Amino acid sequence: MTCQTLLFSVNSRIATVTINRPDKLNALNGQAKSELRSLFTEIKTDNTVDVVILTGAGDKAFVAGTDIKELTVLNKETGREFSSKGQEVFDLIENLGKPVIAAVNGYALGGGCELALACHIRIASENAKFGQPEVNLGIIPGYGGTQRLARLIGRGRAMELILTGNQIDAQEALRVGLVNKVVPQADLLNTAMAMAQLIAGKGQIAVRMSLKAVNMTAESTLSEGQEREASLFGDCCDTADFKEGTAAFLEKRKPQWDKPTFKNA
Ligand code: COA
Repeated sequence: MTCQTLLFSVNSRIATVTINRPDKLNALNGQAKSELRSLFTEIKTDNTVDVVILTGAGDKAFVAGTDIKELTVLNKETGREFSSKGQEVFDLIENLGKPVIAAVNGYALGGGCELALACHIRIASENAKFGQPEVNLGIIPGYGGTQRLARLIGRGRAMELILTGNQIDAQEALRVGLVNKVVPQADLLNTAMAMAQLIAGKGQIAVRMSLKAVNMTAESTLSEGQEREASLFGDCCDTADFKEGTAAFLEKRKPQWDKPTFKNA
């Protein structure tokens, strides 16, 4: 697929998607959101891809938010639709069925922070800054941020970020659990790639089931989640990967995993 606002490459079953508007700090305009939707729809069923890394072009920004120019025309109805459509794109990423690692290489503000939140793992460079500054524009986060941020770092901390519009640096983001790891900027993509390779080396059916089970925590009670966990666990026990993984351990050798198809991910 040819994109104007995204770069895309696949190497050893790991896709890298780069939001590529560095002169606008990778702000998400309508075209970028539409291309993200199309590209991630393709990646979902692309059987050559096991793990995705999402990052921003340049050394200053991951994504500095939604493109503010495009906000100015919104009214009650179109604003609601704008938010819902953006949520759909970010939901697609969260429910991709394959791990998405955000390599946050600078500002992750507004929709940029929300985009990182929709990913499954976040690795930040030391210069990364996170924030939900929408309150400064007279709006609230509209791409799932009020929901995902509170679920990830707790309501109190999410409230503070959303109500003050303050930015936090990478170390503070690590301390509050917003990111998994902080590394020097020069090491960011290699670190993300190493984690992606580690995951790509596992049985992908189990990876997919793990994503499903952990994603459920956002919407289910403990007992509902555990019921689903038991069901997914049972599904895993019915796979060749399970037989192979346990046999390989007992025979002290590396497992040879199946490559699942992702049509129904
Ligand atoms: N939407 C549209 N354009 C944006 C943008 C956004 N969210 N964020 C940055 N840009 C553009 C700037 O307008 C500028 O474009 P120009 O060169 O044509 O004037 C360019 O990106 C560089 O940004 P600039 O503000 O000059 O960089 P800076 O280093 O001085 O400041 C930020 C960096 C991130 C602090 C600042 O750009 C900013 O506050 N951006 C908006 C963040 C925000 O509110 N996001 C949530 C939106 S809902």
